[in-house]
Amino acid sequence: MDIVPSHILLSNTDVQLTVAKDHREARLKTQLDSIKNNYDYIFIDNPPALGWLTLNSFTASDQVIVVVSPGYFELDSLVQLSKTLEEVREFYNPALKLLGFLFTMSEPTINTSVSLQVLRQTYTSKVLNTVIPRNTDLRDAHFNKTDIFTFAEQSKAAKAYDKLIQEIFLNEPIKDEQTTQV
Ligand SMILES: Nc1ncnc2c1ncn2[C@@H]1O[C@H](COP(=O)(O)OP(=O)(O)OP(=O)(O)O)[C@@H](O)[C@H]1O
Ligand SMILES: [Mg+2]
Repeated sequence: MDIVPSHILLSNTDVQLTVAKDHREARLKTQLDSIKNNYDYIFIDNPPALGWLTLNSFTASDQVIVVVSPGYFELDSLVQLSKTLEEVREFYNPALKLLGFLFTMSEPTINTSVSLQVLRQTYTSKVLNTVIPRNTDLRDAHFNKTDIFTFAEQSKAAKAYDKLIQEIFLNEPIKDEQTTQV
């Protein structure tokens, strides 16, 4: 596995791309195309903004996973995101697919249950069955610079991410009652 970290200089890239003339949406795709056969999967983490960096990522990708936390503004932003995905399909990458919405930071609160309910009503089959709970083990794993499986294999977060891997890669839909507990 190779990891390419971000860099502080990337903070200026969005502005530079705004004034760039040639294929400013496809810079990342051009680079990835030359190495992508060396990998089974390439994951690109995106900033929480729909600027040129994210458009580059959408242009280079086959599928998009949208991570959603509970909250009104989080749900509201999905409308804009859906429009952006439509535009990317129209102008840059017709084959781009929405793999699904991944609900995370789930807690036993009304806010969580209402948000998840609204998400499922609005996007129905596009909401992944696996739900990631809010779990401090994740924060602690990051703090210890390791992954959740190494840090706390039996934690709720590790089990949830394990289910997510099954759902996405082994194409095994997980039953709701197994996954929506927080
Ligand atoms: N399910 C979770 N439960 C508890 N803490 C979490 C969970 N997921 C992430 N965190 C913690 O929340 C913080 C932010 O997580 P992360 O960087 O994944 O969020 P992000 O939305 O990608 O942030 P950004 O918008 O800055 O990219 C980190 O400290 C991480 O350890
Ligand atoms: Mg992030």
